[in-house]
Amino acid sequence: MSAPPDLPEVVQRAFDVSRRSGYVSFCRNETGRLLAALAATRTGTLAEFGTGTGVGTAWLRSGVREGGHIVTAELDPRLAKAAARIFGDDDRVEVLAADWSTLRDKGPFSLLFLDAREPKDSGADTIVDLVEPGGIVVLDDFTPCSSWPPVYEGRVDVLREQWLTDERFTTVEVMVAPDASVLIAAKR
Ligand SMILES: C[S@@+](CC[C@H](N)C(=O)[O-])C[C@H]1O[C@@H](n2cnc3c(N)ncnc32)[C@H](O)[C@@H]1O
Repeated sequence: MSAPPDLPEVVQRAFDVSRRSGYVSFCRNETGRLLAALAATRTGTLAEFGTGTGVGTAWLRSGVREGGHIVTAELDPRLAKAAARIFGDDDRVEVLAADWSTLRDKGPFSLLFLDAREPKDSGADTIVDLVEPGGIVVLDDFTPCSSWPPVYEGRVDVLREQWLTDERFTTVEVMVAPDASVLIAAKR
């Protein structure tokens, strides 16, 4: 047995900012490493809806390819300001203190990390035109489920069911840890 790989330096800085801000709603490292790997397959503009204090953004930044650009929107100006500090001298990351919808005219995106409740809950119809063909949507924070239809807390998880059956996307649920999964939806 050996220790897992070190955190990328930019992710470490994002954790420091989160700690100073008292903010804990960041993506877990397993999801972050997946985001970094997916970012490394992308060119063009990657987006994140719901920056928090920039941990997910930092994971994307750690993987993004030469020429790739990341835009991220955070509704809470205090959090957006904290995240912006991480990327102050990085012209490949733009942090906006704004509702996610202000990023509409910056798309279509090659990757969209959908991590704010409102657009995530409104489903694929809201998102489909924001992603380029072959582009990837990543949705975080699911609990692994092997039944069909997927069930969460005793009810059919309609959101997950819709993404997994939407013919405009090819979607897979990936377990990143025994208690956590993400959806990866590739636009057809
Ligand atoms: C789960 S946290 C984001 C974590 C972050 N993506 C990470 O991995 O470190 C969700 C964030 O979405 C923000 N949010 C909620 N509604 C939003 C909206 N309409 N537009 C932009 N951000 C929003 C919240 O303020 C919160 O900070």
